[in-house]
Amino acid sequence: MELFERIAAMRAYLAEARARGERIGFVPTMGFLHKGHLALIRSAREDDEVDRVVVSIFVNPLQFGPREDYRDYPRNLERDKKLCLSGGTDALFVPAVEEMYPEGFATHVEVTGVTDILCGRSRPGHFRGVATVVAKLFNIVQPDSAYFGIKDAQQVVVIRRMVEDLDFPVKIKVHPTVREEDGLAVSSRNIYLSAEERRAATVLYRSLKRAEELVVQGERNGLRLKRFLEDAIGAEPLARLDYAEVVSWPDLKPLNELRPGQVLLAVAAYFGRARLIDNLLVEVKA
Ligand code: PAJ
Repeated sequence: MELFERIAAMRAYLAEARARGERIGFVPTMGFLHKGHLALIRSAREDDEVDRVVVSIFVNPLQFGPREDYRDYPRNLERDKKLCLSGGTDALFVPAVEEMYPEGFATHVEVTGVTDILCGRSRPGHFRGVATVVAKLFNIVQPDSAYFGIKDAQQVVVIRRMVEDLDFPVKIKVHPTVREEDGLAVSSRNIYLSAEERRAATVLYRSLKRAEELVVQGERNGLRLKRFLEDAIGAEPLARLDYAEVVSWPDLKPLNELRPGQVLLAVAAYFGRARLIDNLLVEVKA
C-alpha cells in the first residue's frame, strides 16, 4: 500500500494506473476507521469493475459548524493505515488541510433543495462543505466508482445530485449500514459515548424498526409516524432529539401520506455531546 500526502503525487500514481487501463475505485473517509468504512473498502476491493482501490482520509474542516467537533474529531492514522491495508487498499491519500485549502481558496459547491431538511437544516453549511470536498477529491482521484454508506442517506442524495448536475464521470455505489450487535449504527462518533449513553443510543434503531413495523402493518400517515419516532426517542432520558422525519426517497420531501415505493425514516439525536444519526429505507406496499 502506498501513502500520498500531496495532490500532485497522488495524481501521478493514478495517471500511471489509468494508462495501464486500470479502473479506480474510491472510498472517501474522515478516518478513525471502523467496520462500516472497512465494509466500503472491501466492496471496492471485490468489485468486478475496479482494479485499484484508493481510500482518502481527510477531516474536512469545511463541513463542521463553528460549534461542532472539528478539533475533537477522533484521529488515529497509524491504526487507520493497518485497517486500510487489511481491507485491500492500494493507495491511501492523506492530504493536510493546507494542501486541500491553500490560502486564497474561495470556491464552493452548493447543492440546493435536498439540503433544506434533515441534517441540512440542523447543520447549516455542512453539505456545502461535503459537496465541495467530494468534488475536489473526485477531481484529484478521478475514480470510475465511488463508495458511500446509506448510513448518511442525505449525503448519498447530495452526492448523486452533484455528480449528475456537474457531469462527474463516476458511478456512485451505496453500501448498507453496518451495525453493532444491538443495532447501533457504527460511527466514529460512538467513541464519545459513556457506557450509559452507549446503552441509551440503541433507542434510535429500535424506534426506527418499530416505526417500520407500523408501516408494514398498514400505517400510511407520515405525521403519525413522525410523532411516533419523536415520542419513542423522547422517552429515552439520555437522548436529546434533533429531528425525526418521514420523507420521500430520493427527493427527501416530508410526507403527509405514504405512497407505494420507498420512504426514508431518518432520525438524529444527541447523547451527551455525541450527535448520532440513523435511518431506515422502508418499502411501502400498494
Ligand atoms: P465518514 O463519516 O468518515 O464516512 C465515510 C463513509 O463511510 C461515508 O460514505 C459513510 O456513509 C460511510 N459509513 C460510515 N459509517 C457507516 C456504517 N456504519 N455503515 C456503512 N457505511 C458507513 O462521510 C464522511 O466521512 C464525509 O462526509 C466524507 C464523505 C468523507 C466527506 O468529507
